[in-house]
Amino acid sequence: MNRNPIKNICCIGAGYVGGPTMAVIADKCPDLNIYVVDKNQSRIKAWNNNDLEKLPVYEPGLKEIIERVRFKNLFFTSDIIQNIRKADAIFISVNTPIKTSGLGAGKASNLRWVEACTKEIAEYAEGHTIVIEKSTLPVRTAEIIKKILNSKLNKNNIRKTFSILSNPEFLAEGTAIYDLEYPDRVLIGGEEEDAINQLKAIYEKWVDSKKILTTNLWSSELSKLVANAFLAQRISSINSISALCEKTGADINEVSRAVGFDSRIGAKFLKAGPGFGGSCFKKDILNLVYLSRYFGLKETADFWEQVISINKWQKERIYSIIVNKLFGNITNKKILILGFSFKANTNDIRESPAIEIAQYLLSEGANLFINDPKVDAEQIETSLNGIKGDLQKKDQNEYGNWSFEKDIYKAFRSADAAIIITEWEVYKTINWQKASNLMNSPAWIFDTRSIVNAEDVKSAGLEFWSVGNGNYI
Ligand code: NAD
Ligand code: UGA
Repeated sequence: MNRNPIKNICCIGAGYVGGPTMAVIADKCPDLNIYVVDKNQSRIKAWNNNDLEKLPVYEPGLKEIIERVRFKNLFFTSDIIQNIRKADAIFISVNTPIKTSGLGAGKASNLRWVEACTKEIAEYAEGHTIVIEKSTLPVRTAEIIKKILNSKLNKNNIRKTFSILSNPEFLAEGTAIYDLEYPDRVLIGGEEEDAINQLKAIYEKWVDSKKILTTNLWSSELSKLVANAFLAQRISSINSISALCEKTGADINEVSRAVGFDSRIGAKFLKAGPGFGGSCFKKDILNLVYLSRYFGLKETADFWEQVISINKWQKERIYSIIVNKLFGNITNKKILILGFSFKANTNDIRESPAIEIAQYLLSEGANLFINDPKVDAEQIETSLNGIKGDLQKKDQNEYGNWSFEKDIYKAFRSADAAIIITEWEVYKTINWQKASNLMNSPAWIFDTRSIVNAEDVKSAGLEFWSVGNGNYI
């Protein structure tokens, strides 16, 4: 059956995916009206802020698009029911974190937010609605969504029908706008040709149709998990080799380059670092592991679990090196943390390696000064205070302190060490002589991203360690 083309879109979830994704669709498709709804009213308020520097998500290029389309064909609102009612298509873009308690805790996705908004769709949708999974979900979630939607068909004598599609998002934070405007591919999984074609027609406004892949629902859901697992696996592979470089005198950047020049391997995602962070890699691999175990595939599960083990080990390895270089004692030492977001060009700190490294250093009694160009003190407080509470119970006296310092050079004053955790551009151009003049002596620079020039640091009289750099054994 050929239905009318999509005109009104509702996106449930105004987060790191919902906001930027809908902004780009609105920009590319001026004929569509897009309503991004969220139950978090302060988030909606922030999306509607006149000061574009205060949008809840920082992404290069985002504020320019928001300025063009907001209040024209893109609207952020808390009126969920009304916008579900009038939508021809609804994107589910809510969070799907790992469960923290109950069955599958620490392993399976928590689908309570997906279930809650699906129930709202079932209740309030009218006429025919295409329901699109944009969130990353365990394979066969569409089946659950279908059951919930079908449970309310023809309720209150309002005729309603649904088509379900899977349309996972592949954007990376920090490059979200570029990734959305020039995607490697768009994936649409579904069972009904008409619904698939309607969604395809939207993307075809700016994406070459050859790059729009269509599959069945389950392949689409699974491909998203597998793509993230493959990317994360490359990072764990190179990080495992970074440790070997440090022991043998090899240099991880030279090894990455030599290996990545092989076109079968490719150069991307071979940068050693403090371990991958972000809200998705760990959760999506845990999900893959959980599914594999559920289906009795122990070897598959064990294989992917190793990617997470290596990632944890890399962080532990790095903070052990830091403590050892500082004579095994960091109590009351002033240590500067350069970068708190999980990667450059985002204000997102979810699963940032900075959190675990900072928590560990605090547990050893260090005084941390934390700098980040886009993360604010409030976010850091939320991420560090949980653990502080626990550790304080153990031994209050040994626990260190932290404070936020916006001015990098102020933060260097009397510091015993600085650790680069995020690869922000601004850290690549630090004046090391100026920093050295301000720091204690001896003072260490730990570069977990391998972004600064070793000779500049060393010639300024500073001790230096860089991930995977065997020149300093
Ligand atoms: P997020 O936490 O930033 O945003 C989710 C939003 O959904 C929140 O603002 C929350 O208030 C809202 N929400 C939850 N339940 C709701 C409900 N019932 N009604 C209305 N609003 C509700 O999450 P995110 O980073 O945008 O990720 C969303 C999904 O996209 C996840 O499944 C994630 O795995 C996937 N994903 C994320 C990225 C990324 O880079 N962050 C990339 C690709 C895919
Ligand atoms: C990742 C994927 O790249 C996206 O395709 C996917 O849509 C998204 O997850 C998701 O599903 O959420 P993201 O986590 O935003 O995107 O950012 P990445 O660029 O993948 O970086 C993830 C982590 O790996 C960061 O901590 C980054 O610093 C680290 N990384 C990345 C490395 O340590 N080395 C590399 O070579 C690349």
